[in-house]
Amino acid sequence: MTNKYDVALVGATGAVGEVMLAMLAERQFPINNIYPLASARSVGKQVAYGNQHIEVQDLATFDFAKAQIGLFSAGGSISDIYAPKAAAAGCIVIDNTSRFRYEDKVPLVVPEVNPEAITEYKHTGIIANPNCSTIQMVVALKPIYDAVGISRVNVATYQAVSGTGKEAIAETELQTRALMAGEAVSCDVYPKQIAFNALPHIDVFMDNGYTKEEMKMVWETCKIMADDTIQVNPTAVRIPVLYGHSEAVHLETKQPLSAEEATRLLANAPGIVVMDGRSDGAYPTAVTEAAGNDAVYVGRIRNDISHPLGLNMWVVSDNLRKGAALNSIQIAEYLIKTDI
Ligand code: A2P
Repeated sequence: MTNKYDVALVGATGAVGEVMLAMLAERQFPINNIYPLASARSVGKQVAYGNQHIEVQDLATFDFAKAQIGLFSAGGSISDIYAPKAAAAGCIVIDNTSRFRYEDKVPLVVPEVNPEAITEYKHTGIIANPNCSTIQMVVALKPIYDAVGISRVNVATYQAVSGTGKEAIAETELQTRALMAGEAVSCDVYPKQIAFNALPHIDVFMDNGYTKEEMKMVWETCKIMADDTIQVNPTAVRIPVLYGHSEAVHLETKQPLSAEEATRLLANAPGIVVMDGRSDGAYPTAVTEAAGNDAVYVGRIRNDISHPLGLNMWVVSDNLRKGAALNSIQIAEYLIKTDI
């Protein structure tokens, strides 16, 4: 294969799609042709790729034989129809939706954790990009898991509205403005007011009382770590932050691990920045560190005073970058470095 690639970007006008375009340019991904694709509504609109503006094309009529790599981020129902079509046309799909994540033959990949799984794409032509909250958590779990094992993870997430898409960002901003002006709010994207609030509800409710977002963290952590014995107990919460997910992670290791040793392991792990000064403001937050940056930031690392094998940490990352676009592009970079 040539060393420049034709790339189709499905969902190019969306919150993740825009970041993908920006990051492909920023990371100088070797692109021959880029095809921004969206619905018929967006045909003719222009999207920014580096300093170029490129016209959006209609996904429904696009010939995927023209692309070698397809980055999909337009929702599960769109991937359901078009990802297999693209794969059949020889375009390797990196799918950012949950549609194929739990299929045995589809690898679910975080390059810092299980890059070796990428080659499994040969079964179906599809590689799944995990859920945003899972990605940042497993990046932080990996060095600890490798050193001492992990038996259980309790996690509460504080997730940004951009994970829901552009309409959710707009709703949060509108509600905030309305409330500041003393006006009533309307709720269209979320079932309750999101401005100045916290909603313990992300994605649909499942029969076991957990939400699907929570169960994604359970299923995906085990699949990515290739260890079905890790027990994960999540509570996923949406908060009125625009960009950057935060997570309070409480884990139980198999062997004891001091907070100092955990800090050393995390600081030496790929993709992680430790920020744990134990003083005012010396911890990472979504707005001040994560948003617009690539790393997974870890702070508040401390042993659990209630459990001899417990360790606590605060994990923050940009959900549109490492949680979506960056992880997908890292998978693509790995692919072109290895064997496509
Ligand atoms: P469009 O802008 O044409 O609707 P977000 O997650 O920010 O809501 O973005 C969703 C992305 O998925 C957008 O790029 C949107 O394109 C795209 N999309 C939604 N429905 C379709 C569809 N039926 N066909 C192609 N792209 C779609």
